[in-house]
Amino acid sequence: MARRRFVEISACFSAKWRCAPAGLMDMMRAMHISPEHPMLAAVVDDLATHGWSRQALFLPGELVRALAAECRRRDAEGELNPAGVGRGVTQEVREAIRGDQIQWIDPGQAEACDQYLSAMDQLRLAINQGLFLGLEDFECHFALYPPGAFYRRHLDRFRDDDRRMVSAVLYLNEGWQPQDGGQLRMFLADDVALDVEPVAGCLVVFLSGEVPHEVLPAGRERLSLTGWFRRRGNDPF
Ligand code: OGA
Ligand code: MN
Repeated sequence: MARRRFVEISACFSAKWRCAPAGLMDMMRAMHISPEHPMLAAVVDDLATHGWSRQALFLPGELVRALAAECRRRDAEGELNPAGVGRGVTQEVREAIRGDQIQWIDPGQAEACDQYLSAMDQLRLAINQGLFLGLEDFECHFALYPPGAFYRRHLDRFRDDDRRMVSAVLYLNEGWQPQDGGQLRMFLADDVALDVEPVAGCLVVFLSGEVPHEVLPAGRERLSLTGWFRRRGNDPF
């Protein structure tokens, strides 16, 4: 199924590609990502029925490679920082809990990131149309796990802020093998564990407050883009 959807996307992509050596912008336009796209509809369906979804080939390899290159560039320029645990003034770096290095993404920094943000905005609209979650924005960061790093079991919710509703992780690792470790382990109903390999192009989406999960130690560097769709806060006007 996922394969078929990818073929649909890559078919319109390659038709465009033959006419003009396009940039990422043209590639995304050729993909025709709208909230009605079958792959987005499948994510919404999965979320409604199981609370999670996995799309093996969410984006074209070209864009995934550009995102991986951007993550490596930021790492080479020293822009990634050890991730914290918690939020605001209570945030601290605790390598016994998580050992990844991160940098938040803002619009206008890199074309590949902008394309990713625009695809995720379509997913946000699709989720709102299908599930009425009232998602207002999407925040996301690059994450680099050096060999041996992990992230212990947790929920993607802060004790003092429950705006994060849906988590989405896009993996950027070409040639990842099961023996490389680094799986995302989700604990589903009855605490049944389900492992996902962090293979390039794969997108995992799950309900932030309901799916405990962890990142197993990886034997090689592991790159991803991790983000959260958030609903409006309850602050007074
Ligand atoms: C996180 C997280 C999962 C992954 O950053 O909160 O759980 O597979 N990431 O990278
Ligand atoms: Mn998490």
